[in-house]
Amino acid sequence: MKCRRCRAPAVIDVRRHNAGFCRECFLHHCREQVRKAIEDFDMFQPGDRVLVAVSGGKDSLALWDILRDLGHDVDGLYLGLGIDGYSDESGVFARSYADRTGAKLVEIDLPTAVGFDIPTGARLAHRAPCSACGLSKRHLFNQAAADGGYDAVATGHNLDDEAAVLFGNILHWSTEYLGRQLPVLPAGNGFVRKVKPLVRLGERETAAYCVLAGIDYQVEECPMAAGNRHLGYKDALNAIEEQSPGSKHAFYFGFLEKASPLFTPEAASEQEHLQQCARCGTPTTGEVCAFCRLVERAHQ
Ligand code: AMP
Ligand code: FES
Ligand code: ZN
Repeated sequence: MKCRRCRAPAVIDVRRHNAGFCRECFLHHCREQVRKAIEDFDMFQPGDRVLVAVSGGKDSLALWDILRDLGHDVDGLYLGLGIDGYSDESGVFARSYADRTGAKLVEIDLPTAVGFDIPTGARLAHRAPCSACGLSKRHLFNQAAADGGYDAVATGHNLDDEAAVLFGNILHWSTEYLGRQLPVLPAGNGFVRKVKPLVRLGERETAAYCVLAGIDYQVEECPMAAGNRHLGYKDALNAIEEQSPGSKHAFYFGFLEKASPLFTPEAASEQEHLQQCARCGTPTTGEVCAFCRLVERAHQ
C-alpha cells in the first residue's frame, strides 16, 4: 500500500478514509483532523490559553503534542487520582512528556487537595468509583482552568469515546445528556469552555500517532473501569465499524448535524436553573454541588 499523499510506502491504513499514510503524512493527517475540528466547531482562536487535561494515556498526550505543533498556547493539567498501581505510573508519563518538551504541566494531587483518593472517596460516599472519578475530574478541571485564567479546557475524548457515550445515551434515551453531548460546551455561569479536539480521530489513530511521534504513554486502562458499560458499547461499535468502516463517524457526526439540536432546549432549560454552590461557588442545580456533597460524605 502506498501513502495517499506522497506515494511513499504506507506504514498505516485508515479504513474509514480508505487511505494509507507514510509516517510523516500520517502525523500531518492527525494534525489536520484536529485543526479541522477546532475550526469547524470554533473551539478556540490562536492566542487563547488552553489547558489540556493529560491522563498519561495515548489520547491526551497526542492531543497535547498536536496542539503544541499547531502553535496553540497550551499547558497540561494532571490529576493524581490515587488509584493503586495505575495513578503513579500515569503521572510518570505526563511528567516525562513535559520534561522532554519543556511544556508546562500543572499538577493536582487529589488526596492532598481534598483529603481522599478515588477508591476511598467512592467507597465512603457509596458511589461507583468511575462516577466519583468523573465528577471529581469535571470539577477540578474547571476549577484549575478558572484559577489559572485559561480560556478553555481540552480533553482527549476521541471519536470512539464520543460514539460510545452517544450509543449509551440513545440506548437509554437520556435526553438531558443528549442535549449536552457536544464537542464544545461554551463558557458561562462560572464554567470554563470545554472542548474535545480529537472528535475526528479514532483511538487506533491516537495510539499510532504516539508510536510514530515517539511519545511514551500508559498502555494499561484504569483497573476500576474493567467491565463497565462503555467498554461494551465500544466493542459493539467496533464490530459494526469492522463490517462497514465509517459507521462511527457517520453515527456521531450525523447526530451532531441532524439530531442534537432537537435536544438542546431541554439541556438549556436545565442550565437556566443553575445557582451557585453554597460551599464552592460552582454552578449547580441544588444548593450544594455534587462534588461538595461527595467531599462531605467522604469525610463523614
Ligand atoms: P477518561 O474519563 O479516563 O476516558 O478520560 C477522558 C479524558 O479526561 C482524557 O482524555 C483526559 O483528557 C482527561 N483525563 C482523564 N484522567 C485524567 C487525569 N488523571 N488527569 C488529567 N486529565 C485526565
Ligand atoms: Fe477514574 Fe478509572 S480513571 S475510575
Ligand atoms: Zn461545590
